[in-house]
Amino acid sequence: AAQKVQVSIDPSRPGVKIDRNLFGQFAEHLGHGIYEGIWVGSDSTIPNTRGIRNDVVAALKAIHVPNVRWPGGCFADEYHWRDGIGPQRVVRLNPNWGGVIEPNTFGTHEFMDFIGQIGSEAYVSVNVGSGTPQEASDWLEYMTAAQATTLQKERAANGHPAPYKIALLGLGNESWDCGGNMTPDYYLDRMKVFSRFVRNYNPAQTDKNQMLKIAVGPGGGEERWTEWTDTVMKAYQKHTWSWDINGLSMHSYTTVKWPPAYKSVGFGEDEYAQILKSTLEMEDLVKKHSAIMDKYDPEKKVALIVDEWGSWYAPLPGSNPGFLVQQNSIRDAILAALNINIFARHSDRVRGANIAQMINVLQAMIITDKEKMVLTPTYYVYKMYLPFQDATFVPVTFDAGTYKHGDSTLPRIDALAARGKDGKLWLEITNVDPNQTADVELNVTGFATKSASGETLAGPKVDSVNTFEAPNTVVPKPTSARVEGGKVMLKLEPKSVTVVSLEQ
Ligand code: AHR
Repeated sequence: AAQKVQVSIDPSRPGVKIDRNLFGQFAEHLGHGIYEGIWVGSDSTIPNTRGIRNDVVAALKAIHVPNVRWPGGCFADEYHWRDGIGPQRVVRLNPNWGGVIEPNTFGTHEFMDFIGQIGSEAYVSVNVGSGTPQEASDWLEYMTAAQATTLQKERAANGHPAPYKIALLGLGNESWDCGGNMTPDYYLDRMKVFSRFVRNYNPAQTDKNQMLKIAVGPGGGEERWTEWTDTVMKAYQKHTWSWDINGLSMHSYTTVKWPPAYKSVGFGEDEYAQILKSTLEMEDLVKKHSAIMDKYDPEKKVALIVDEWGSWYAPLPGSNPGFLVQQNSIRDAILAALNINIFARHSDRVRGANIAQMINVLQAMIITDKEKMVLTPTYYVYKMYLPFQDATFVPVTFDAGTYKHGDSTLPRIDALAARGKDGKLWLEITNVDPNQTADVELNVTGFATKSASGETLAGPKVDSVNTFEAPNTVVPKPTSARVEGGKVMLKLEPKSVTVVSLEQ
């Protein structure tokens, strides 16, 4: 039987902006994330523009990716930018990810060309692990200087006289682990040096806060991570003119087990419920680290940037385990919606998030195989959430109910409401329950709703996926919203994500 759910939205009490950077992406030199996923080379038979595949660009353009984090990940702390510029590239190995050849044919210019083609911005991570402050500082001068310095001239000779814009700058990656196994104090000292000397010279970004510097933050909720956040934020409280940060990163993957052992396809309701229950731990993690940040930065100047998150499952059988290849099901779509809603509810502090990773790696938007491409259920969530980019949070109350399966008990319903930049009122509502339909009765305070329309994403099974052969198994369909006496009636399919706009 369908469950009845009362939802009410109060647009008279708007909250803060839901930063579009919550919808950021992450593209690391890992497996087929870059090579084949983005870069095929200009002599490829796969249609491309200057080596960058056209099908992928068109798909990403459609989801208005606000920023792309690059080149890693663990890769970033071993990346030497000079390897990837000019006519002669340095060929190396990629020891983090399968030990394969890294041809460096995709470097700074190719990355900038790619984000230009998709209409996004750069979130560049500098090498704080094996690199030097001088190397990082030179890279920034190479990318951003407008005056005729030697590095600017070199960039111009390589085809780009105008300065590039860096929207976000990562000061290291997981410096507590693959980024160099540093203690919080050691990282702090090192990070301050990078923060001091790595400068943005782009004259269009005169205010230094236009390139947001993101320090490495926690990787979980345990004691050592709270100590990490505490150390960096305590120092921030007393920072001087000579160093600064605008953000603290946080990484948290949904795995349940480590090493990741859950299957990404071919699983049943047990694993569906366990994974979704586990992903909700993000809320406590955000709260925990926000509380530490509040202690030292009550004005919330430093953003919490969850720049690696998503599902991390066992590698697909037959794939290179170092390539982190997994399928993407309706469970991942729901997982994405639940996390985006958590970030949005904490928008006062969480002002950026980058799902890992954009193409062919972990919880991807897009899966490719040579010339073939398929869009995942997670991709469609990002598409449906477009109206929430830079929208204003609006309080929504609902009777979440309970979905219980085996040992897993979790809320059955989740929802997010916002006033879009288009002036419309938007509601996202997730039905986690894989078996029961939900009958929603929606009331908007002070708003005589005349029409409601939108889309819903659902799948026939808990592990429904899109494949090259069947790409339309999990795709958005129009919803069945109807308006009765100013109230909106919505029928939510089991295991579904729905986004509707309301007009009066
Ligand atoms: O996204 C895969 C890896 O996960 C990243 O390289 C690293 O930062 C994290 O441990």
